[in-house]
Amino acid sequence: MALTHPAAASADVGLIGLAVMGQNLALNMADHGHQVAVYNCTTAVTEKFLADNPPAVFGTTGGGLVAAAELKDFVASIKRPRRIVILVKAGGPTDAVIDGLTPLLEKGDVIVDGGNALFTDTIRREKALNERGLLFVGSGVSGGEEGARFGPSLMPGGKPEAWALLEPIWKDIAAKVDATTGKPLMGARPGQPVKGGVPCTTYIGTDGAGHYVKMVHNGIEYADMEVIAEAYQVLQSVLHLSTADCAKVFAEWNTGDLDSFLIEITADVLGHVDPATGKPFVEIVLDAAGQKGTGKWTSTSALDLGVPSPTIAEAVFQRYLSAKKEERVAASKLIGQPRAPAFKVPVTVTAVRDALYCSKIAAYAQGFQLMAAAAKENHWKLDFGAIAQIFRGGCIIRARFLQKITEAYARDPNLANLFLDPYFAKTIEAAEGNWRSVVAACALEGVPAPAFSSALSYYDGYRSATLPANLIQGLRDYFGAHTFERVDAPRGKFFHVDWPDAKRPQLDA
Ligand code: 6PG
Repeated sequence: MALTHPAAASADVGLIGLAVMGQNLALNMADHGHQVAVYNCTTAVTEKFLADNPPAVFGTTGGGLVAAAELKDFVASIKRPRRIVILVKAGGPTDAVIDGLTPLLEKGDVIVDGGNALFTDTIRREKALNERGLLFVGSGVSGGEEGARFGPSLMPGGKPEAWALLEPIWKDIAAKVDATTGKPLMGARPGQPVKGGVPCTTYIGTDGAGHYVKMVHNGIEYADMEVIAEAYQVLQSVLHLSTADCAKVFAEWNTGDLDSFLIEITADVLGHVDPATGKPFVEIVLDAAGQKGTGKWTSTSALDLGVPSPTIAEAVFQRYLSAKKEERVAASKLIGQPRAPAFKVPVTVTAVRDALYCSKIAAYAQGFQLMAAAAKENHWKLDFGAIAQIFRGGCIIRARFLQKITEAYARDPNLANLFLDPYFAKTIEAAEGNWRSVVAACALEGVPAPAFSSALSYYDGYRSATLPANLIQGLRDYFGAHTFERVDAPRGKFFHVDWPDAKRPQLDA
């Protein structure tokens, strides 16, 4: 289908980048009554997209698609001030699209980057575009292909006036949840607008705030998937459940506190059978995890800001370790199996569930602490209750317990750590014994559970009034005169011991 020349200023919004996410977001906007101008650098992709989605698809919604082969015609077809969403690969491709677009835009137009951009890139891009009189929004878009099509969670950052231009569209297309229960709401059929409900989008903050929050969302997503994978491994390796039984356990867990998108799809994936071999699908999948880098960015940011986020980092490290498949296979032959432990710690399915839930709470606690530190550093006014609210629907980490996080921040907007909230404190108190048993059993039986155990150590460290860092300070003072603070002197006052018999590195005679 050859593209016709679209009428000038006929579209409400533009979208560049017609890979699956871009296509689905364009369809979602059109479903909600918006005329969407679309553009892709390969015109054949645009032609096919339009042919596959003729006006009849949108019925009487008032929405639809228009397209141009040339970027300048695409730009001209959008009403001013123009709102142009770009959904292309993060990094160089995003810069290339912005560079091509900028000369064609006019003062007051807004570019919206919906990719998984690094927040520092977003800050740089916003500054450069603002200097040219253009507005910029860096918006996290979560929910994968389905989310983009039928309701994502959207995390926009930028100038309030840029958000004001985008807000009506973002609120239309975002997932909706029930105001009191936080339960995701569905339209009468997929794509049909939901009546009422709270949209899973809110203004996050200035410049890179939206992309920062999306990055932390992804870091939590890594940790969430790692603890799920560890639970699956304990069910298999310690409790000797078949894959089909593991699927049933996850389906059962999804009816309780763990109710979430990731637990639900874990049951689906574990229950899926490979048609070619008749084996459970997961048994034909190579155990080498991939990644695109947002979990690493989250961990790097945690290190930069000095925020302990070990469970998120363990999830990233564990993906790296999994990817060293050949080396692990060779090591398994050389090192062999762990020796039989002197004693066994009994583990139940409920104990695994508790270990999973507590570790998940620890990962979210780390993610929210990280956002708090980044807010301070970057002068963002983040509203953690509102962030938890928009994570309740649409995004990959959507979960029933995000309602509990929302309520925790409603009780105390300045909550220092989720562990301190009465609901989470009580939940962990009740489940803590099981969490410890699972970690102990894994250690005794040689089953790696780095996220379960690092989450537990994080919890134990956080609730400890004393840690052995006094010895670290003593050692640092001994070999490097790095000084230390005293327990009986005010904080910030530093001391040094002139170690009389210090063992210095020996110089050759
Ligand atoms: C989302 C996802 C999405 C994507 C991740 C996957 O919120 O919709 O987080 O952004 O699935 O980029 O990341 P990895 O490929 O690194 O696992």
